[in-house]
Amino acid sequence: MTPAVRSQFPILAEQVHGRPLVFLDTAASAQKPERVIEAMRDAAYHQYANIHRGLHWMSERTTEAYESTRDTVVRLLNAPDRHEVVFTRNSTEAINLVAHSLGSLLKPGQVVLISELEHHANIVPWLMLRDRAGIELRVAPMAENGDLDLEAYEALLEDGNVALVSITHMSNVLGTVTPAKKLAEIAHAHGARILFDGSQSVVHRKIDVQDIGADFFTFTGHKLYGPTGIGVLWGRRELLNVMPPFLGGGEMIQNVSFERATWASVPHKFEAGTPAILETIGLKAAIEFVEDIGYDAISHHETELTAYAERRLGEVEGLTVLGAPEVRGGVLSFTMDGAHPHDLATLLDQLGIAIRAGQHCAEPLIRRLGLHATARASFGIYTTQDEIDVLLTGLERARMMLT
Ligand code: ALA
Repeated sequence: MTPAVRSQFPILAEQVHGRPLVFLDTAASAQKPERVIEAMRDAAYHQYANIHRGLHWMSERTTEAYESTRDTVVRLLNAPDRHEVVFTRNSTEAINLVAHSLGSLLKPGQVVLISELEHHANIVPWLMLRDRAGIELRVAPMAENGDLDLEAYEALLEDGNVALVSITHMSNVLGTVTPAKKLAEIAHAHGARILFDGSQSVVHRKIDVQDIGADFFTFTGHKLYGPTGIGVLWGRRELLNVMPPFLGGGEMIQNVSFERATWASVPHKFEAGTPAILETIGLKAAIEFVEDIGYDAISHHETELTAYAERRLGEVEGLTVLGAPEVRGGVLSFTMDGAHPHDLATLLDQLGIAIRAGQHCAEPLIRRLGLHATARASFGIYTTQDEIDVLLTGLERARMMLT
């Protein structure tokens, strides 16, 4: 990626412990380009009021800005219909929305199928639904290389009782990109709907929900170079139409009396209360930033960088890169013999290098790997090969000190 892209992220010029920041924790939350920060600042300075409510100029302009983000998301996902884009706080809330709302239509004994690769956000809402509604929860296993075991996945669908597959499109631990189109074909062939948790994948690759054949797709703004507090649930309109509301309150109703309430049409039925207005405006700027660079350039940069990092990390004595999936996004988890991941992260931090260590909100996957924790380096648009080299120097130093 060109230095011009990197220079758009003011924070990357910061020093940490007297050294240049080497930020390798983008999978947790990405840094923000100036235009995202400016878009939110500009709105707060010049054009802000509550939306969908006022008849005054400020409210109308702010409503237009907010609603134009919906159109930007439609373009990002190639969604067929702007009414299918629901704003949530994040991907976690989007999955909880589906678990509560679609979940309330499921009958005891019907099945939700997830996988061993999931983040807690795509496990816990289904455990809660299971305990509340008596549905069955099945878990598709991971193959040894970190890919999903496709044969086992299909076998779990074969009895026709799976109502919904809810599965990651890219693992935040191993970087595994799941074969979305194939998973959707198999799910549909067995009468199931499919939701993709796209929190990681949308950062690295072009998403086309129509081409994939998804029924639901979720992502979060803050990993896509946008603000926190804003996420997206995209869902097929015929499904959203029959799903009951998740949260009740203002703006999601048609009429309210003390006897009953009737619901607004989608997407407003699912957007109770004043939303994250400035953050939604910031999300539009983030999506436009990504579109201006283009997913071809983004994927190319991250694929090369990840392959380089994987090869060079593999050369460090005692270091194991976890998993070898067929397609890997810009996320690498690793362990070092004799060094706890937390100690690695702490030592690297002293050198200005930010990585994540722990269970990465994916405790079942970490246990499946036979571990208690991993270290994780994750990359974005702004990551450079020089930063990978700094990481390698840091890891060599850690090896000398810790093992
Ligand atoms: N889900 C985020 C991560 O993987 C927080 O680090």
